[in-house]
Amino acid sequence: MNLNDPGTTLLLVLLSILLVVWSLKSKRPQKGRLPPGPPALPIIGNLFQLDLKAPHKSLIKLSEQYGPIFTFWFSGYPAVVMCGFEIVKEALIERGHDFSGRYLFPILKKISNGYGIAFSSGERWKQLRRFSLSTLRNFGMGKKCIEERIQEEAQFLVTAIRNKKGSPFTPDFLVRCAASNIICSIVFGDRFEYDDKKFHTLLELIAENIKILSSPWVQMYNNFPKIMDFMPGPHKKIIQNIADLNIFLNERIRSHKESLQKDLARDYIDSFLIKMDEEKHKPDSEFIHENLLISVLNLFLAGTETSSTTLRWAIQILAKYPQIQEKIHREIDEVIGSCRRPAIEDRVKLPYTDAVIHEVQRYIDLAPMNLPHMATSDIEFRGYLIPKGTFVVPVLSSVLKADSQWETPDSFNPNHFLDENGCFKKSESFMAFSAGKRACLGESLARMELFLFLTTLLQNFVFNPVIDRKDIDTTAVMSGILVVPHVYKFCAISR
Ligand code: HEM
Repeated sequence: MNLNDPGTTLLLVLLSILLVVWSLKSKRPQKGRLPPGPPALPIIGNLFQLDLKAPHKSLIKLSEQYGPIFTFWFSGYPAVVMCGFEIVKEALIERGHDFSGRYLFPILKKISNGYGIAFSSGERWKQLRRFSLSTLRNFGMGKKCIEERIQEEAQFLVTAIRNKKGSPFTPDFLVRCAASNIICSIVFGDRFEYDDKKFHTLLELIAENIKILSSPWVQMYNNFPKIMDFMPGPHKKIIQNIADLNIFLNERIRSHKESLQKDLARDYIDSFLIKMDEEKHKPDSEFIHENLLISVLNLFLAGTETSSTTLRWAIQILAKYPQIQEKIHREIDEVIGSCRRPAIEDRVKLPYTDAVIHEVQRYIDLAPMNLPHMATSDIEFRGYLIPKGTFVVPVLSSVLKADSQWETPDSFNPNHFLDENGCFKKSESFMAFSAGKRACLGESLARMELFLFLTTLLQNFVFNPVIDRKDIDTTAVMSGILVVPHVYKFCAISR
């Protein structure tokens, strides 16, 4: 390098300025002993090592070199990444409290400002979680009354699909309507007709947001928010869509307020409003409008997109593997027949069907990176000191696809959940809903939905692909917050 060359000198000066600016601006913790990781560059950290379309795959690859715990630098902030069953279990279950914070990426901050059940931390989160869990249970989560609601909704879904008369259709929208109606019944107290225009618009806004949240655009926003704020692109659409959803939700909250009877909560919104009234003289109460609005938004989004995306994948996988679909048909015919509706108590008698549902969840790996966690205090963990507020990534994909835990981790294999006698076999490594204190709040509801919707659909139909089965691609189009499946048409033939 020739230091007398003015070009080289200018480059060195610019690089030095960038380094100084980066070291001043980056939130590199002053204290703590973070685990070692790949060498990071100024400004962009380790971003150049991340496949923005499937970031979890890059992290798992790096863990082969740096071990089960390592530090990965995003632009200006470090993440402690954990890969593999043992360490994820230790962090989420044994040290559940220590890692129960929610790290707010810039996009999550913009959407929620730290309000609401899914994106809050500390005392606010504890209160909202306790309240939401008990309210969801009061309105039937995991109980008979919600089972009946799902059974009824499954029949609406069957009718809508039967109306297609066996011609090719994309099940995505109808399945999304059905799943969403379950959480709508609990949160708003009613369901929507599948041809309701407003419902269509809401579901489109949700689906579009999940797609954008899972895209490279959001990765860019989370790393360079100040620059991206000035750039056009889909990340801007998310904010607009949330604003539109909030208009609808605020309208629902207002009409609930007008018809509220304090001794008779009809749904989640009523229960929250009653709690707000009880705590209105408490200056530090968490039961305030912002937490109500964002919690309802969280439940609506999480309750709509997760179960419905899983069901879409399930239909796709069963259409690709007709022998697996036939085996479920046979089991349903033997145990339930065609005259009565499938019920939750049938699950123990349908071990193969149950195994297929679990395997769908394991194989699709719906939330591969999990939602972002955060250290709640300065934490000693495996010989390192992780400072309070550090972003922690317990990579669920590294558990659901671990070589050490599954016989054929990368292929669809219901035997992962069956013993040698064909009985259902539980697995500790089944962490599709995450684990520990912050695990999915809607797990028991989602499990009921998946079982009842899928058995009802297969009691009534055979799903055949329109294209050649072997051309159905069961890998994700992209993955970020959720994995997004390819879109295919199917023919649902009545049985
Ligand atoms: C197949 C269906 C579903 C899957 C795979 C799933 C998965 C997950 C995962 C991985 C998390 C993050 C857990 C963590 O941070 O460690 C989560 C959180 C959450 N889920 Fe689900 N979920 C599903 C369905 C539902 C449904 C139906 C609801 C509606 C009630 C729901 C509500 C939530 C909420 C509110 C949170 C945030 C909990 C918190 O931050 O404390 N989920 N879910």
